Amino acid sequence: MTDLKKEIGRRRTFAIISHPDAGKTTLTEKLLLYGGAIAQAGAVKGKKSARHAVSDWMEIEKQRGISVTSSVMQFQYDGYCINILDTPGHQDFSEDTYRTLMAADSAVMVIDASKGVENQTRKLFKVCAMRHIPIFTFINKMDRESRDPFDLLEEIENELGMPTYPVNWPISSGKDFRGVYDRQKKHIISFEATGGQRQVAATEVGLDDPALGDLIGDENRSRILEDIELLDGASEDFDLAAVHSGRLSPVFFGSALTNFGVEPFLANFLKMTTPPLARMSDSGIVDPFDEKFSAFVFKIQANMNKAHRDRITFMRVCSGKFDKEMEVLHVQGDKKMRLSQPQQIMAQEREIISEAYAGDIIGVFDPGIFSIGDTVCAPSAKFCFEGIPTFAPEHFRRVRQKDTLKRKQFVKGISQIAQEGAIQIFQEPDTGMEEVLIGVVGVLQFDVFEYRMKNEYNVDIVKEGLPYSYIRWIDNKDIDPKKLKISSDTKLVQDLKGNYLLLFTSEWNIRWALERNEGLSLTEFNKGELQ
Ligand code: G4P
Repeated sequence: MTDLKKEIGRRRTFAIISHPDAGKTTLTEKLLLYGGAIAQAGAVKGKKSARHAVSDWMEIEKQRGISVTSSVMQFQYDGYCINILDTPGHQDFSEDTYRTLMAADSAVMVIDASKGVENQTRKLFKVCAMRHIPIFTFINKMDRESRDPFDLLEEIENELGMPTYPVNWPISSGKDFRGVYDRQKKHIISFEATGGQRQVAATEVGLDDPALGDLIGDENRSRILEDIELLDGASEDFDLAAVHSGRLSPVFFGSALTNFGVEPFLANFLKMTTPPLARMSDSGIVDPFDEKFSAFVFKIQANMNKAHRDRITFMRVCSGKFDKEMEVLHVQGDKKMRLSQPQQIMAQEREIISEAYAGDIIGVFDPGIFSIGDTVCAPSAKFCFEGIPTFAPEHFRRVRQKDTLKRKQFVKGISQIAQEGAIQIFQEPDTGMEEVLIGVVGVLQFDVFEYRMKNEYNVDIVKEGLPYSYIRWIDNKDIDPKKLKISSDTKLVQDLKGNYLLLFTSEWNIRWALERNEGLSLTEFNKGELQ
């Protein structure tokens, strides 16, 4: 096997997603510990403590204890090279999560065993299922009272719209949690809390071992034997092809905090998930093992490091090998270039890299040329990857700078933040950039926007709430948008490319506009954005 095939073949790239507080950060930390990427448990976090998660680096995240941006972590384990894409847990940032999922080959969904599928998880499940992303479920916090595991599975199956396959099965929960039964190895891994909550001893015993009763108690022993019978009779057979095509979700039970079940999860997950998957482009399927390098941009982040005032563009390498000396083609800009300061980023730590392979995520210094969804490839292979659709904003504010002398910084700030895809900017016809309308998918994005304008661009802004919640682009090119008959609470605006749109307060108003303007054609998405 060539080095290229070997390197790509050992890559595993996945996104880790959850409802806030389900334990995503704790699980990530434990995975990094196994890979030796961090030296000490607790190095990653403590929202309430002084330490902060490796992945929660932005100031606002620290203050609010939520994850706003996604970050990327790479580590080695058992011959695999693993890329974890962390995602913001809060639903107001689900567009960011969606873009990150586009860069992953599978998703690990962390669920709190006492809560089951929560709102945010529900939405993400749907996205994964829609895109047929292989999805693995880690049911966390088994050291606390949990819901009935059969109920949890049923709920997951209903939400996902696909069957599940429990890889292991819990023996009780909370104070009485005794471990899990490994269905493939057909033995029990018992859990024993030692030294408080954070350390456990795990012992492996066979089902027919006479010591089992002593270890987990007779009652638990009979219950697990019953459960196993039920499971073997009722649950789906394990089918790896179905897992790979997103039609069966393997489920694991464990406790990230006490580190119980995490390593078996990692070992199984690595065996079950795929090496980098092929991606679709306008010239057909791009094979990750193809020698020619290609990548697409899924995330842009300005001011990662305030001192450097830089803008980093994150790309997912989709095929071949990247070499820092190589010349690449930025397809949308139609320009050949060398990517500047290619780096791997682990939260705030950065490491300049000289090579990367399909499956890897690289960050490059970006003077402002890239947009989300752009393709970069070997000059001899010009094609575009499928675009990443933008979500329609649902909340709007009118925004201007407090100090009119700061106009330049204001325009720079809103433009850069808009290029990252965190906000969308609109203008009323015939007005300048002194005052703009900002649209977002989740209201918390306004807070992040305001905070960043102040901290990164030194501009205080004034925001004014607007009542609109529906946005429609005007498709007709042959009408004068200013002459449309619209109700007094509908607003005509333009996006930065000059396209006209209407902002509505209700669906009723949309119908009103369509009825009164014959031939008017409105679309929910800006068609120009969707390639
Ligand atoms: P998130 O990234 O999904 O938002 O969740 P995070 O890992 O921050 O975990 C949320 C809380 O749940 C944390 O407690 C964490 O310690 C706790 N937790 C995570 N996994 C487990 C588990 O397996 N069992 C139990 N019992 N608790 C778990 P916190 O009090 O909010 O923060 P901290 O002070 O403990 O860091």
